Amino acid sequence: MRVKPLSPPFGAEIDDLDLARDLDDVTFAQIEQVFNERSVVLFRNQRITHARHVEFSRRFGELEIHVLREYVRPEHPEIYVLSNIIENGRPVGIKDAGNYWHTDLSYTQAPSRGSIMCAIEVPQKDGAPLGDTLFASTAAAYDALAPDMKAKLQGLQAIHRFWDRYIRERKAAGSDVLISEERRAGTPDVVHPIIRTHPHTGQKCIYVNEGFTVGIVGMPEDEGRGLLNELFAHCTKPEFVYRHQWRVGDLVMWDNCATLHRATVDYALPQRRLMQRTTLKGTAVF
Ligand code: SIN
Repeated sequence: MRVKPLSPPFGAEIDDLDLARDLDDVTFAQIEQVFNERSVVLFRNQRITHARHVEFSRRFGELEIHVLREYVRPEHPEIYVLSNIIENGRPVGIKDAGNYWHTDLSYTQAPSRGSIMCAIEVPQKDGAPLGDTLFASTAAAYDALAPDMKAKLQGLQAIHRFWDRYIRERKAAGSDVLISEERRAGTPDVVHPIIRTHPHTGQKCIYVNEGFTVGIVGMPEDEGRGLLNELFAHCTKPEFVYRHQWRVGDLVMWDNCATLHRATVDYALPQRRLMQRTTLKGTAVF
């Protein structure tokens, strides 16, 4: 298997595998090792069916079905569709999702281990791709913290919340949303350690994100917000960031413990973007 780095601190491209074919256990174990060690893995030129996308994802364990059920594929509910395309008057997926630094499902008790996204349509301008995704290594960001900051963060816990961000983003995108109390209650606030240990590598990572982290347990609101803003800015410094320019047929998987990611919404119809993502189940944060 040929593996080359995508950026110095993290990310790898595996360039000689066809994921439409059956993978033997040894090859799969190598992919999983690269994934754990490099946090973001790119495979170019993949032409896989929805069923294959789900099947490949399941090799890593159980899959999530996204809380926004309106954007999952009815025949494969493990696939969450991100798109600006309208068909028969209806959006085919969620538009402008993830246009802020976040990590998937941090607002749940057992946040996702990783996500696997396929590029089906990539918007273009003058032959160059639009709609890049940025990734930031929270493991490299942890390593670069000053010792006194590491000591200060150890033992602190942060609060993660889903609906506020969702409603804010939908309003900004021009849609009016009303979320019932019952639906809100299905995704209540959760609390996670700010410094978490990677369940597969033991690496320490900073586990807060601009998207869903709203406060620090036991800290006055202003002070908590100030510390969170400092951490958000630290984690997304250019030296910890890899920017992915999509091509049709790319399959990118990312680690939701060791990275943050952010979509770039720099396109609009008739420039079409269609991405499909599966989300791997994770375990409680420690
Ligand atoms: C996501 O946040 O999962 C999607 C990122 C993207 O669409 O670039």
